[in-house]
Formats: sequence, structure tokens, C-alpha cells
Amino acid sequence: MSAAELEATAKAMVAKGKGILAIDESTPTIKKRFDTINFESTEENRRAYRDLLITNPGGKEFISGMILYDETIRQATSDGTPFAKALIDQGIMPGIKVDTGAKDFALHSGEKITEGLDGLRDRLAEYKSIGAKFAKWRAVITIGNNIPSQACIEANVHALARYAGLCQEAGIVPMVEPEVLMDADNTIERCYEVTEMTLSALFSALKSQDVSIEHTILKTNMVISGKQCSTQANVQEVADQTVRCLVKNVPAELPGIVFLSGGQSAELATAHLNAMNVSNPDLPWPLSFSYGRALQEPCLNAWGGKESNLKAAQKALLHRSKCNSLACSGAYNADMESAA
Ligand code: G3H
Repeated sequence: MSAAELEATAKAMVAKGKGILAIDESTPTIKKRFDTINFESTEENRRAYRDLLITNPGGKEFISGMILYDETIRQATSDGTPFAKALIDQGIMPGIKVDTGAKDFALHSGEKITEGLDGLRDRLAEYKSIGAKFAKWRAVITIGNNIPSQACIEANVHALARYAGLCQEAGIVPMVEPEVLMDADNTIERCYEVTEMTLSALFSALKSQDVSIEHTILKTNMVISGKQCSTQANVQEVADQTVRCLVKNVPAELPGIVFLSGGQSAELATAHLNAMNVSNPDLPWPLSFSYGRALQEPCLNAWGGKESNLKAAQKALLHRSKCNSLACSGAYNADMESAA
């Protein structure tokens, strides 16, 4: 394993004005997304959709890497170029989701533990040989009555640290993703508290397992009001609370932080990222994006599963990618939406 290679990959993932496009939906999740456009989730239909995302002309200006799913990294463009190669040829790094999903956490009703450590060393070696430069593992932390438990946070961050160590051993940059869900009726203050507990436990676990923080990327939720909360914090509050929580709990040597969108609308996710960067130009790490839904939704809707809409779909994706790229330096403006 070369430290220089890991360092170069981590830096490139969060290079100025660039972020990550997450297209790593599992087969059940992509089916849910396709259901919204009444499009059948067959292997060929999933390939065709990922093909349009991966081969989008101009995408490389704003996108440093894409996170693929196991099925996707084995597929190819319509002209037969393997997806990983198609990305590398454009200067976009292929990444891979390596967890096998969040399952019910034994003895802890309503909580999840992410699985996927068994056989991970061998799977990482194979993904590396296919071209993967970074990997993702998502832990899910749920807010509810008396949850999350300390046990759930500890079990999940322990697994994240084990995964991260295996990635670094394989020469792959780990993107560690502890996602505090934003679906409940909690206040932004409760989200802050739980995000703080989670991040502080995560960095202790990474350090205690000797994971190199310098060669790790954090993918996290924003500190935000739960969707069912009657009082919704505004954009500036979300930006301020998120940055406050990160400054307090994330080591300065981390090369970069990217956000998940977690069900926020596309435009709100961009506005939040922009506000953070407008108010905090001198943070120790770049703040960028690794959105799934907030980058893809307008594209998926424009496509609707129809070949004839391919160009419109790619245009919609490029527009969102550009808006988020600008948000990385606080240069986004909501007027850009109507000009699109
Ligand atoms: O793990 C989560 C995904 O990579 C990001 O998805 O932006 O739709 O929350 P999201």
C-alpha cells in the first residue's frame, strides 16, 4: 500500500469545485427510484440508466468520482466499455459501495447495524483490480424514543473503523459514512446532539484501530431538523449548526468532508452546502457533496426511462452538478435555477 497513492486519491476526491456523484443504490433501492417514474427495474434498465449518468458529457468538470454498486462496476456502456474504464478515461475516479446493508441490530428495537465485513479483504482486492480508488460504507443511526443507544453507535463505528483499515491496507481510500437519519420529528438541536455523539465516537474508533485520518474521507449528514418536526430550521441555521458540529468533532488533518443529501430537495441540499461555504471560507477541510438523490432526482424525472429524453436528463444532471460545484466555494445563487 502506498501512502502517496492514498493521499493523492483523497485530495482528488475533494479537489476544488468537485464532488462525488453517488450512484450506488442497491437493487431494492434503485427499484424504489424507478417506481417513481413507472420504469421496470431489470438489469438492462439499470445498466442503461447508469450508462447515461456515467457517460454524461462535461460531467468531469464538476465530479471527481462516482460511487458504484457491485452490479454496476461489472457492467459496461452501450458500446461495451466497462463502466470503471469509461470513468477512468474521463478522469473520474470509480468508487464502490462495499457494505452489504443495514440490518436490524439484535436486542435493539428500531436500530440498525451495517454488515459486510466477512470476506471484505478479498472483495477489496478484486474491486481494486477493476479500478476502484475509493470505497463507501454507510452506517445508519436512527433518532427516536430513547434511541440511538450507545451500543448502536459503538457497534457501527467499530465496524466503520474495521472497514476503513481494510480499505487502507488495500490501497483504497475509505469514505466513512455515519448517517444520522433526518426522517423523524426531532429538532435540529437533537440532530446536533446525536451527530456529535456519532462523530466523536467514530474518530475515537478510527484512531484506536490506527486508521490514518489523513487518508480517510468523511461522508456525513447535515445537522438539520427532522422532516416531521413542526419547526424547520432555516438554511443559515442548518449551515451554522453543521459547521459548529464539524469543527468541534472532526480532526483538522482529515482531507475532506462530503455530505449526503438524505432526502432533502435538490435545491435545498445545494443551498445548505453553499451557505456553509459562504460563511466559513477558512475551514481546515473542503466541504463538498456526495449526493445521490439531490443530484439524480431531476435527471431521473427528465429521463422517465425514455431514450428520447437522454439529452434532457444529462442536461439536468449537469446543471445540478454545476450548482453544487459552485456551492463548494459559496458561489451558488438561487437565480441560477431559473436561468437553467
Ligand atoms: O449513502 C448514501 C448515498 O450515497 C447518498 O444518498 O444523497 O440520496 O442521501 P442521498
